[in-house]
Amino acid sequence: MSTVYYLVERTLARETSNRKETVSIAQVFVKKFMSILKPLPQTGDELLHLSAEPGDDLEDLLIVELAKAYLPNPLIVTRDKWFLQRQACQAAHPKEIVESGLNPWQPAESSPIPFIDLSVQQRLLQPKIQAAIHRVLRHGQYIMGPEIRELEEKLAEYVEAKHCITYASGTDALLIALIALDIGPGDEVITVPYTWISTAEVISLLRAKPVFVDIRCDTFNMDPDKLEAAITPHTRAVIPVGIYGQCADMTRINEIAGRYGIPVIEDAAQCFGATHHGKKACNLSVIGCTSFFPSKPLGCYGDGGAIFTSDDQLAEKMRQIRVHGQKVKHQHPLIGINGRLDTLQAAILLEKFKVFPEECLRRAEIGARYDALLSPIPGITVPFIAPGNTSVYAQYTILSDDRKALSQKLQAAGIPSVAYYTTPLHLQGAFADLRYKPGDFPVAEDVASRCLSLPMSPYITLADQERVAKAIRDT
Ligand SMILES: Cc1ncc(COP(=O)(O)O)c(C=O)c1O
Repeated sequence: MSTVYYLVERTLARETSNRKETVSIAQVFVKKFMSILKPLPQTGDELLHLSAEPGDDLEDLLIVELAKAYLPNPLIVTRDKWFLQRQACQAAHPKEIVESGLNPWQPAESSPIPFIDLSVQQRLLQPKIQAAIHRVLRHGQYIMGPEIRELEEKLAEYVEAKHCITYASGTDALLIALIALDIGPGDEVITVPYTWISTAEVISLLRAKPVFVDIRCDTFNMDPDKLEAAITPHTRAVIPVGIYGQCADMTRINEIAGRYGIPVIEDAAQCFGATHHGKKACNLSVIGCTSFFPSKPLGCYGDGGAIFTSDDQLAEKMRQIRVHGQKVKHQHPLIGINGRLDTLQAAILLEKFKVFPEECLRRAEIGARYDALLSPIPGITVPFIAPGNTSVYAQYTILSDDRKALSQKLQAAGIPSVAYYTTPLHLQGAFADLRYKPGDFPVAEDVASRCLSLPMSPYITLADQERVAKAIRDT
């Protein structure tokens, strides 16, 4: 970093005698430069899959690869004939740029920004992921192959839970957690109305009753102040959700549920990698569930999920339920389901998990960058991260009083945005038999009417974030 700073400052110093200005410009430049440089692969393995042709220079190929890793359609401005002729990616001679009047460093105002860009990560990891997939194809253990156990060991160690059991989806993980707790008809399970339907769907699937508790207006997570009033003699579990990347107030929820002897199942589908008072999501109560849906913070290339627990008996039961209640081959002491994660997905996750801790840090930096850009804009509420929490920003979600106008304006600027959970669960047809009505959960309804999620990925560039901020400012 100091070398980059030295070079920039020295170059600028040639253009101006104002030292203060030079230092300040150099500092801003280096900061931006380093924020883009962060995802540089450190191993050099990216060279492995480069399809070199006779006469190719590996260094030039690497430049093309790295440019592609940062930008969807990079344009390399160079006098080098190799770039101009080989067409490994778009290249132009500086003369062409000057003659066309284009400024290639000006962000293309109309080129769309992906909402969740999975392609940069894929390009960075492609050779390793391909190799991992080929390993599975070679050993052929597509069901419960060695990668499943390896992944479970690594994830359990990361979360600091005794057991990790992987599943075919996050929904299966939640369902199996409830089956393992023997939840069924006549039982009540408390959760929130502002979440993806899976959280409550699995309760209804078991013919138990979802009981909703409103969310907090700042974190959009379960309001612990409203939990106790919802507990009845039939309450058999509480499922708080870590929405948009931040854990619920698990400390208070555990304390309240603990007083009644009610187990807490954390739905950490969106907040895997986040922390609550130094402890990792999924290790904050007796059972933690997560999802590996592709767009989740740790996503695979299909469906997947996992449960974490440090309770040996529950772990044993949840392992059995995953394979039709089977304890040893052809012996089924329990009723279960087919809920296994594919070996191929485990192999992919093992590679993705290697960069996951670094990606969590990047997500936090990107969230802070959005905060700095957007918080001065009137009419916008940026996410609130509760003291003691870190967020992985599965989504970067703001509140706006005029969401419709804002999202239209963003769309016109080539910037996608998504309003999630616009009809909270208590107002969904699937839960009509619960007889909730509008106004029952005013905070969830208010957040549902004003929330808007912006483009987010660990590799979104500062330039794209600035473009998003500018479009919001201009509305
Ligand atoms: C909060 C929450 N819970 C559960 C799930 C279910 O996960 P999956 O899609 O892997 O079944 C999701 C997925 O979107 C989710 O966001």
